[in-house]
Amino acid sequence: MATTFVAGCLLARRGLAQPVGSLTQLGTIRLGKRTDDRVPMIKDFVPLASLDSLEFAGWDLFPENAYDAAVHAAVLEDRHLRPIQEELSALKPMQAVFYPEYVKRLHGTHVKSAPTKADMVEAVREDIRRVMREKGCSRAVAVWCGSTEIYVEPSDVHQSVESFEKGLRENHPAITSSMIYAWACLKEGVPYANGAPNLTFDFPAGHELARERGVAIAGKDFKTGQTLMKTLLAPGFKARMLGLNGWFSTNILGNRDGEVLDDPENFKSKEVSKLGVLEHILQPEVYPDLYGKVYHKVRINYYPPRGDEKEGWDNIDIFGWLGYPMQIKVDFLCRDSILAAPLVLDLALLLDLAQRAGLRGVQEWLSFYFKSPMTAPGLYPEHDLFIQLMKLKNTLRWMQGEDLITHLGREYYD
Ligand SMILES: NC(=O)c1ccc[n+]([C@@H]2O[C@H](COP(=O)([O-])OP(=O)(O)OC[C@H]3O[C@@H](n4cnc5c(N)ncnc54)[C@H](O)[C@@H]3O)[C@@H](O)[C@H]2O)c1
Repeated sequence: MATTFVAGCLLARRGLAQPVGSLTQLGTIRLGKRTDDRVPMIKDFVPLASLDSLEFAGWDLFPENAYDAAVHAAVLEDRHLRPIQEELSALKPMQAVFYPEYVKRLHGTHVKSAPTKADMVEAVREDIRRVMREKGCSRAVAVWCGSTEIYVEPSDVHQSVESFEKGLRENHPAITSSMIYAWACLKEGVPYANGAPNLTFDFPAGHELARERGVAIAGKDFKTGQTLMKTLLAPGFKARMLGLNGWFSTNILGNRDGEVLDDPENFKSKEVSKLGVLEHILQPEVYPDLYGKVYHKVRINYYPPRGDEKEGWDNIDIFGWLGYPMQIKVDFLCRDSILAAPLVLDLALLLDLAQRAGLRGVQEWLSFYFKSPMTAPGLYPEHDLFIQLMKLKNTLRWMQGEDLITHLGREYYD
């Protein structure tokens, strides 16, 4: 996904391909009344960094440069990689912070070593400062495109900045590699989006440090394939008061992500992230007759022949008038990294904007991009894609001093 994202940005800024799927690059925003006829492009409405001004850097436990990694991932065709081969080849990953116990299927050698996790945080901070100096950057944003780690529940060590920093010094086992990167970024004032279901900083200590350092954060787990479909369909069933008995979702995929998720402990993180969606959208406690007995199952199967070209298959058992059952089948023959790349771009640009606008801590208005949106403590996440989009656009309107649009004028709808 990371190399697909970088390659897409390089191609788009040379005018060699379109950044399809990116709201910041292709989306518009209505301002004022419908009769005002003011519908600028989002990128002209808010002061986003331009594609031309971006520099890229990253870490990986495999030393391959971005060109070799992209060839290996086999997502993009030669006609797209060839024109940018030189730029991609020059992009070499920095050594990773990688404790293998959190991602058991990967065995890389391009890794840092340091006596404690606190030293690892310092090493990542130094990487950030150095790379920004070398590339002449004035600001940075981090987007986690690394593997899914094993499922970790927040525990005592995650409760305060103090306990977490003690845990770092004592190599606490509940502090994973992704938490170390996130901590380093927060300390450096670098806004951070988490594209994986990893816990990363979604616990009191992480929220506290983000607020303390004045850093914008967002997560977790990009909403791209099957879950995107789910959050398109489920609000529709609820809007029409159609009932649901069960939703069986299965996937086959053969990329490295699929290989990592083949381990049950890593799959557990993904499963939790994918399962939460329906419950929040359908509100079984409010509609027990319609959604009180939903059987929801999600499976991911590693199947190497498919590579990045994932197949997400859904069987949905709904019921209508007088309880008569019906079925819907969705077979999404998608491309994992092609769906994810525009989200990486949007989040980098929007988080950078949020940071400059003085927004701090969890950015719920970016829930649009996530399967398992982070919220302020005590709030439940919003999963409905259309409510999420309205919130995102209204936040942009609010930033620029425009009236909010709720679509509640004469064209009232619920
Ligand atoms: N549509 C999508 O592609 C999609 C959607 C939602 C979430 N995600 C999540 O995004 C993540 C990346 O997906 P992908 O398809 O690009 O996977 P990938 O396996 O192609 O790439 C992940 C990379 O991260 C590296 N890595 C793992 N741990 C690391 C560490 N500690 N430090 C540095 N590098 C590390 C791996 O070596 C690998 O090169 C996964 O967690 C995946 O579940 C992807």
